Amino acid sequence: MGETKLPFDIDSIVKVALGEIREITEVNELEKWRVKYFGRKGIFAMLTTSIPEMEQTLRPVIGARINSAKKQLNEAYEERQAIISSSFKEASRFEMNLTLPGLRSDYGSFHPITLVSRQIVRIFQGLGFGVHTGPEIETDFYNFEALNTPADHPARDMWDTFYLDTEKKFLLRTHTSPVQIRVLEKMPVPLRIIAIGRTFRRDAFDASHSPVFHQVEGLMVGYNITFSNLKAVLSFFLKELFGPEIKVRFLPSYFPFTEPSAEISISCVICKGKGCQTCSSTGWLEILGAGMVHPEVFRKSGLKDNKLTGFAFGAGIDRITMIKYGIDDIRLLFFNDIRFLKQFR
Ligand code: DAH
Repeated sequence: MGETKLPFDIDSIVKVALGEIREITEVNELEKWRVKYFGRKGIFAMLTTSIPEMEQTLRPVIGARINSAKKQLNEAYEERQAIISSSFKEASRFEMNLTLPGLRSDYGSFHPITLVSRQIVRIFQGLGFGVHTGPEIETDFYNFEALNTPADHPARDMWDTFYLDTEKKFLLRTHTSPVQIRVLEKMPVPLRIIAIGRTFRRDAFDASHSPVFHQVEGLMVGYNITFSNLKAVLSFFLKELFGPEIKVRFLPSYFPFTEPSAEISISCVICKGKGCQTCSSTGWLEILGAGMVHPEVFRKSGLKDNKLTGFAFGAGIDRITMIKYGIDDIRLLFFNDIRFLKQFR
């Protein structure tokens, strides 16, 4: 069969389509092109619907021409699709450059107060002491009265108190000592516990004062508990905390809830006892208050067995932390400066 004259020019349609597709670099452009030629209302659909209107003899010829044109354009389409998708992969491979350093995620650290508190807890747990916290809001009874510090007692001057009501019944605990009473009321004796947590006094912030600070309290009660037990436990504790090379010194002192009372110092960890700024040239750092539990404390806690004895102690965790890490301003422990905090990993 010779060249058949068609009512439309398939060759130029193919030529135009191939010209267009060669310019296409984007997936959505390629899709537009596909719809234009192969879509439901596209050019080939139109051509195909016109076949039945043609002369009988022409129909198979036109059908065959349309099919070969479709095949040619379909190949061009697939080829272009492959080119576009490989260049897309090329581009995204560039974006995902595996040789670049990754994005580092920030990680946190424990607060130095937490680190020291945990160390203290570990030492006392090793000695069989239970760990308590007690409430931060206390009553006058637990914070003062039961600790042998009645309303007119001069020792109340030692604790400038945040009262929560005008009757001065509720307050923020000024020390962890009230936990002694709470434990003695509830737990069977003999007992040994520490109480650890936040305490509050009406101090303005400066390098060595903070209105909120932390204490650890200790209490050991039983039969035949003597000052020797106090000395042994607290010497052991301080050497575990600061290192076996430190010296421990006991001096007489006064607290309303202990009798006799002692203040306990360690040889200065900075100057090793020679005298420096940290120890105000004394060679000693005062760390603990302690003493034998006053009989009045037992009585106020409802314990009537007068063979019971015990010792108690209290220490500031902030001060211990500052000494251990060489921190010269207590405010650093409360102002949450990330440059300070991230040093404790
Ligand atoms: N509560 C005292 C204070 O805040 C510290 C203290 C001293 C606690 C002697 C005690 C102790 O248990 O026996 O200064």
